[in-house]
Amino acid sequence: MDDTRSRSETRFPGRWAAWFRPWRMMHLLWMRNSVRFFPHWNPASLDQVHGLIGMIRDIESRTTRHAVWVECGSLHGESAGLMLAFPFIVKLHCIDIRDSRILAARLAPFLKSGRCTFHHGTSRQCQAEIPEVDVAYIDADHSYDAVKDDIAVWYPRVAVGGALCGHDYHPSGNAWPGVRRAVDEFVAQHRLTLTTYADSSWMVLKTA
Ligand SMILES: C[S@@+](CC[C@H](N)C(=O)[O-])C[C@H]1O[C@@H](n2cnc3c(N)ncnc32)[C@H](O)[C@@H]1O
Repeated sequence: MDDTRSRSETRFPGRWAAWFRPWRMMHLLWMRNSVRFFPHWNPASLDQVHGLIGMIRDIESRTTRHAVWVECGSLHGESAGLMLAFPFIVKLHCIDIRDSRILAARLAPFLKSGRCTFHHGTSRQCQAEIPEVDVAYIDADHSYDAVKDDIAVWYPRVAVGGALCGHDYHPSGNAWPGVRRAVDEFVAQHRLTLTTYADSSWMVLKTA
């Protein structure tokens, strides 16, 4: 075994000093800007990326309409960037009450080409700018009232053959109980079938 390496890994303060190396500090700062690639609750898991990709591919295969998407709650553009990696999504509307410079930088080529448009405000404030979509992804305010209202705004605007979906549906109800309650009530009211994914995304097909 490499003698230098074994010393730094086993002796105090070498082992703990490793946490304060500049690159690790930068990593921790960068993690503050990430909910998908380095989620603070589990930086070692890629579930937040793979689950969303699974949902996007599922929607492509199970819907007849999936070209125009709206995302309510885009933050720094991580989920939006993943969506735009799929060529079948020809237009993505991003809605957020916050103007993120990181989103603007990450999505710059798509914003410039017009494939992506950013709308500042809430669903209710922006709905008039986005008449109809094929898929709506709800990931904004996670309170019961807000999720219920986002669903009420977007479900009628989702085309038949498309899908309504969102993030942070936890069947246990321990995290974001408001999301679960609003989604469960909506699914029961419309007699829909709920599909969930590894990143806690949820999805229903709009067939009628
Ligand atoms: C969980 S983050 C979105 C994460 C993003 N979808 C992703 O996965 O990369 C929630 C975002 O919703 C925004 N937000 C909160 N309340 C909102 C509202 N009423 N309308 C629109 N956006 C809202 C916040 O500013 C924040 O950027």
